[in-house]
Parts: sequence; structure tokens; C-alpha cells
Amino acid sequence: MTDHASTMNAVRFHEYGEPADVLRLERAEVPSPGPDRIRVAVHACGLNPADWALCGGLFPGKLPRGIGLDVSGTVDAVGEGVTGVAVGDAVLGAADYAGGHSAGAADFAILNHWARVPSGLDLVQAAALPLAVETAYRSVESLGVTAEHRLLVNGAGTMVGFAAVQIALMRGTRVLATAGDTYAERLRALGATVTSYGDGLAARVKEVADGPVDLVLDVAPPSGALPGLLQVANGDPRRVLTVTDMTAATELGIRTSFTETQPLAWDVLGEFAQHTADGRFTIPVARTFPLEQWRAALEISQSGHARGKLVLLPQG
Ligand SMILES: NC(=O)c1ccc[n+]([C@@H]2O[C@H](COP(=O)([O-])OP(=O)(O)OC[C@H]3O[C@@H](n4cnc5c(N)ncnc54)[C@H](OP(=O)(O)O)[C@@H]3O)[C@@H](O)[C@H]2O)c1
Repeated sequence: MTDHASTMNAVRFHEYGEPADVLRLERAEVPSPGPDRIRVAVHACGLNPADWALCGGLFPGKLPRGIGLDVSGTVDAVGEGVTGVAVGDAVLGAADYAGGHSAGAADFAILNHWARVPSGLDLVQAAALPLAVETAYRSVESLGVTAEHRLLVNGAGTMVGFAAVQIALMRGTRVLATAGDTYAERLRALGATVTSYGDGLAARVKEVADGPVDLVLDVAPPSGALPGLLQVANGDPRRVLTVTDMTAATELGIRTSFTETQPLAWDVLGEFAQHTADGRFTIPVARTFPLEQWRAALEISQSGHARGKLVLLPQG
């Protein structure tokens, strides 16, 4: 274990509510890793919409709690039963959101899933990967996407969507995507056929598709797209999976990430870190912020147009 002070900087909330109202940067106790956990000195923390949902009561637990799931950093202490990683190793992974009084947006974080950062992978790029890769991989697996399929990814300009497009293309799948202007050209360059999201998408997809769409993955922020996506899937709700619009999905009989039995996919993190180091995969970073500028990151994220990963840097 490395010697350091017993308190650290952390972005936390002490009551549920709007993130702008309840979050604060404050001194917090440096957490100790329990069994099967490691502690890292955080280099970078990628933000996700789930961080703001956490403040609103998603996965409720004991308060205060921290935000920030996606972490890269240097191992600083290892808990009982941990093997294969040592103090001083560079890792990326997921902060133990539910297990403590702080999370990744802090000087130190407890991780419950991790992989080594391969040589050649920058730590900021590494912190952009965990949740986007896990969610995209799990969703693509859930749908059973193969080279035989034509897949539509609705919301491919989100980072989960950008990951899902790349994962499907790696499988040899023909990929159609809806996206805004930010990533449309990059998605085309990767090999996807792209049209815009929003009203009338079923007709636009039909226009650009060179045949029937077999499977649909919806990762767009909830925006009333599911009826159109169901149309794209020829009215078969079993061929559509959403990770976002659970309410509409329930009404339409569409599959959701909450009702699928597919296990979490943290075990692929190391593989995708290596792909990223090799230049075969990427989650674009829109902007980095020192930890004390967390509020600027929150505002951009909540505008609905993060345009890539927003990453906090506790070390400035
Ligand atoms: N269920 C799960 O396990 C799970 C896990 C992770 C994430 N999620 C959810 O998945 C969604 C994506 O997460 P993320 O972190 O990848 O998001 P993100 O990167 O923060 O998404 C931001 C992007 O969404 C695009 N967008 C905005 N409105 C859209 C619309 N109506 N249709 C399509 N795209 C739109 C914007 O692209 P432009 O700027 O180009 O317009 C924006 O830049 C979120 O709703 C998140 O809560 C669910």
C-alpha cells in the first residue's frame, strides 16, 4: 500500500435529487479495498448518463455516495483474494458504484472489475472504454448478432452506439446506423451505412438499406423512436433490444437490457483495451476537465449532446 493522506477529493452526493443541486466536490475518506477489490490512484474518470441517474435514485444505497464508473489509474492497494495484479500496475475498470461512499470521480477509487492497460494505450483513452464497451458488447451478444445479419444501431453517435457499431463490424455484420452530424462521417468511414435519427427514421432506414433489417439495437436517449424501430424490424418486437427506453419497450413487448439474462461483459475489457491500443477500436474523447470543473462536464452531458466521452482528471 502506498503512503498517502487519509482524506482525498471526491465528487459526491448526500441526498437524492438533481445532480446540479446535490453533487459537491469535497474531502472524503480514502476508501480501503475489501475482498476481491483493488484501490487505484485515479488518473482519469469517464462520465456516463448513469452518473446523473444515480443522483436521482438509480441503484439506491447508503449515502453519501460518489459518481464516476469508468476509471483508469495506478493500483495503490489490493484486497484479500486478488491475484494477477500488483501495486503500481496501470489498470482500467469499473468503480464499485454501490459498495462505498465515493466512486471514480475522486483521487482514489475502489474497482470491482478491471484489466491491465496495455502498452501504447493512453490512460485518458482507457477511461473512456469500460461502460460503453461492456454495454455494447452485452447488447450485441444478447441480440445474437452474426455476420449473417443486417443490424440497425439507433443512436450510433452515443458512445455505447459507437462501440456497438464497431463490435458488430468486427463480426462481419452489415451495419446501418442513425447518428447526428458529430459522428456520421466517422461511422461511414468505419463501414456503416448512416442516416439521421429522429422522426421518420423508419422510412429513411428503408431508403438507405440494401435489404431487410434483421436486428435493431436502440441506444439513443429515450425519444419516442421505438415504434419506428419496430417497423424497421418488420413488426417483430423480439428482434429489437433497447438499453434506454424501458417504459415504451414494456408497452410494445420490445426486449430491454434490464430483462435480458445475458451476463455482464466486464471480461472483454482487456481484449478491447488491446484493440484500442492496436488502433482497431476507439471510444472518442470529447473533452477532459480537471476534477473541480465537474459542473461544466455535467452541463454538457445533460444538454444531450456530449459528442464523445467527457472525462474528469483528478490530478488536474
Ligand atoms: N441499460 C444499460 O445497461 C445502459 C448502460 C450504459 C448506457 N445506457 C444508456 O445508453 C444511452 C447512451 O449512453 P452513452 O453514454 O453512450 O450516451 P452519450 O455518449 O452521452 O450520448 C450523447 C449523444 O447522444 C446523441 N443523441 C442525442 N439525442 C439523440 C436522439 N434522440 N437519438 C439518437 N442520438 C441522440 C447525441 O449525438 P449528436 O450530438 O451527434 O446529436 C449525443 O452526442 C444513455 O441513454 C444511457 O443512459 C444504458
